[in-house]
Amino acid sequence: MSMPTLLVYGSYGYVGELVAREAIDRGLDPILAGRDREKLREQVDELDQPGRRFSLEDHDVVAEALADVDCVLNCAGPFSNTAEPLVYGSLESGTDYVDITGEIPVIESIRDRDDEAVDAGVTLLPAAALSTIPMDCLAAHLADRLPEADSLALGVDSFRIPSIGTVRTVIEGADTGGAVRRDGDLERVPTAWRTREIDFGRGERPAVTMPMGDVCTTHYTTGIPNVEMYAVMPQPARLALRSHRYLAPLFESKPLRWTLKQLAGIREGPSKRRRERGSAYVWGEAQTDDGEQVVSRLRTPDPYVVTVDGAVTTAERVLEGDTEPGFQTPAGAFGADFVFELEGVEGFFDESMPAASSPVSPLLQ
Ligand SMILES: NC(=O)c1ccc[n+]([C@@H]2O[C@H](COP(=O)([O-])OP(=O)(O)OC[C@H]3O[C@@H](n4cnc5c(N)ncnc54)[C@H](OP(=O)(O)O)[C@@H]3O)[C@@H](O)[C@H]2O)c1
Repeated sequence: MSMPTLLVYGSYGYVGELVAREAIDRGLDPILAGRDREKLREQVDELDQPGRRFSLEDHDVVAEALADVDCVLNCAGPFSNTAEPLVYGSLESGTDYVDITGEIPVIESIRDRDDEAVDAGVTLLPAAALSTIPMDCLAAHLADRLPEADSLALGVDSFRIPSIGTVRTVIEGADTGGAVRRDGDLERVPTAWRTREIDFGRGERPAVTMPMGDVCTTHYTTGIPNVEMYAVMPQPARLALRSHRYLAPLFESKPLRWTLKQLAGIREGPSKRRRERGSAYVWGEAQTDDGEQVVSRLRTPDPYVVTVDGAVTTAERVLEGDTEPGFQTPAGAFGADFVFELEGVEGFFDESMPAASSPVSPLLQ
């Protein structure tokens, strides 16, 4: 029997390149793909893999390009520009779809195609990355611990210098402000709407609400109707985010956006050395409406390491036929323990008392 075919779209971007190399290391023999002839040719020569150049303007071209592909792994962000044509092509060609988006509108629009995906027998699994594999798995674990929970607060402490593509994606999505989930629906709130001191296992750190894709996936995984997602921010970034509410018209100005995009272009992404030393701390709290509460934590390697490992591991599982057709979340598809399939991720650290009166976390020891 021939090996199932994986195609990595955006394979010469910062994350795409790391994903392509990891997929090759794992023997997945991926087809490298993207829209830029020169960049793709260079990568195909260097990695000695098959390549497929196509852009995403014409949906039928995309469907044709995916006709012999079993799973497409989309690493081309901002995903607001790339997910829709690749999902269309996947549904038309019967190809499973995985991506690494953290963009809320993208995840929601993919979820809207659940019925079509079920009919087509296709798995649509977005957000197989730092946001949201660890948070989604932690949420599933908390829901197992407290099945009556009706609210979830999640946090990540992973602040690091982002890749150019992440900066571009944040700028691209800056107009939409913040978002939380309230009674099952997405609710728009101001940027950095709430601040909370969170103990990630190494003392309290100030975190602000962030519109991360986790407010979608964790809700769909657990069914918990209220979700807030927090991220630790250094003070200058917190202030900038909060003032952005009032500076929004300025931030939206074309010259400023252009300058930010150029600045972002100076650095591609964190170096190998930085990636090897980085880590992310994840915290979650589930609560019932009568005040019962559980807290759990998780520690992972560097955000980009988790993203690459998470994306490739997800694609591997999808290629192995481990997923049902339709819209899927990481923990919904593979369970809360899926995160332990990623290298360097150990157990959940559980507390049964509220965070404020909790004993020293094992993460500190
Ligand atoms: N969810 C998470 O936790 C997480 C973690 C890491 C990264 N990300 C996201 O992953 C994305 C990629 O990050 P990166 O650092 O790899 O960015 P990058 O280096 O800028 O790479 C982006 C890639 O996407 C391609 N691309 C962009 N727009 C396209 C379009 N309209 N049509 C076809 N190709 C297009 C680019 O190709 P060209 O050169 O041809 O434009 C490039 O190959 C970002 O959106 C980032 O926010 C998410």
